[in-house]
Amino acid sequence: MNPFKDKIVGVLMGGLSKEREVSLRSGGAVLDALLLRGYDAVPIDVGPDIAEVIKQKGVEVAFLALHGRYGEDGCIQGMLEILGIPYTGSSVLASSLAMDKHLTKDIVRQEGLPTPDSLFFDAHHEDLEVFLSKFCLSFPLMVKPSREGSTIGITKAENARELKVAILEAAKLDTRVLVEKFVQGREVTVPILNQEPLPVLEVVPKSGFYDYASKYTAGATTYTCPAELPEELTRTIQDYSKRIYRRIGCEGVARADFIIASDGLPYFLEINTLPGMTATSLVPKSAAVAGISFGELVEKILFTARVKVQ
Ligand SMILES: Nc1ncnc2c1ncn2[C@@H]1O[C@H](COP(=O)(O)OP(=O)(O)OP(=O)(O)O)[C@@H](O)[C@H]1O
Ligand SMILES: [Mg+2]
Repeated sequence: MNPFKDKIVGVLMGGLSKEREVSLRSGGAVLDALLLRGYDAVPIDVGPDIAEVIKQKGVEVAFLALHGRYGEDGCIQGMLEILGIPYTGSSVLASSLAMDKHLTKDIVRQEGLPTPDSLFFDAHHEDLEVFLSKFCLSFPLMVKPSREGSTIGITKAENARELKVAILEAAKLDTRVLVEKFVQGREVTVPILNQEPLPVLEVVPKSGFYDYASKYTAGATTYTCPAELPEELTRTIQDYSKRIYRRIGCEGVARADFIIASDGLPYFLEINTLPGMTATSLVPKSAAVAGISFGELVEKILFTARVKVQ
């Protein structure tokens, strides 16, 4: 019995974040897949009037194809809880926790798993000069807005002058800034679907930095799935991903990013609770290797829809 077969499925996309364009692509791909499988799916572009639009269109279940602020961080999830509309993926708490890289890393450390050393700067409550005067990590560093995606606002800093500029840049996007040790190594990512890790995927950006252009320009990055790694390391990375997914309380699909350093350990960078869902995104690529087609993947995610506060 499919509880969603006769329901109006709203595919929520676009939205108000810096990742709007990517989200429109994810949403378009999800919408096509749902229509192909016979669902009564409608596209919903998320704006300030979203609650009214959902009512007008008669949406009975929400498939979230949003990324970044207001979509991936618990905001839209909270609104759907209040409206009583089942939605896909992680809860309000898990979404907002995973959105904040600094808080997620603290939890990963508590779990005893490796993540690059880091410091946290709160531009709202701290003085930058005081923070810099006590700074104790060695270069190079990665400076990130704690709650952004798609590498937006992330800079590598090689010295104290660059560090200050990088923090000021990141703080324009988020008052919460993460300053993290740069880790040289191979970059891998692992989707977790309904508690179970999918094949590990290695990303090799041709420019050397997996930035916005490398992520969304065709041919700019080489992908290998399953990643060519020793079996034991693959199992370790999948085990770490599963533990992090559980500790954060994720549901549906999520995707954890790591860098394998020269000491052989996979260092956790972040976990995404609404990863890209275009037909060429990382999660669909890995799912395909596991024998799950894009349409099946979308349907499996749809089945995770529920209101989660009860
Ligand atoms: N500590 C680090 N050492 C080396 N490279 C890093 C580090 N942190 C981030 N990077 C590089 O920057 C990219 C973006 O970083 P990260 O995954 O933390 O941010 P994001 O913008 O939220 O990504 P996503 O698009 O996956 O949501 C990584 O994919 C990696 O290539
Ligand atoms: Mg990432």
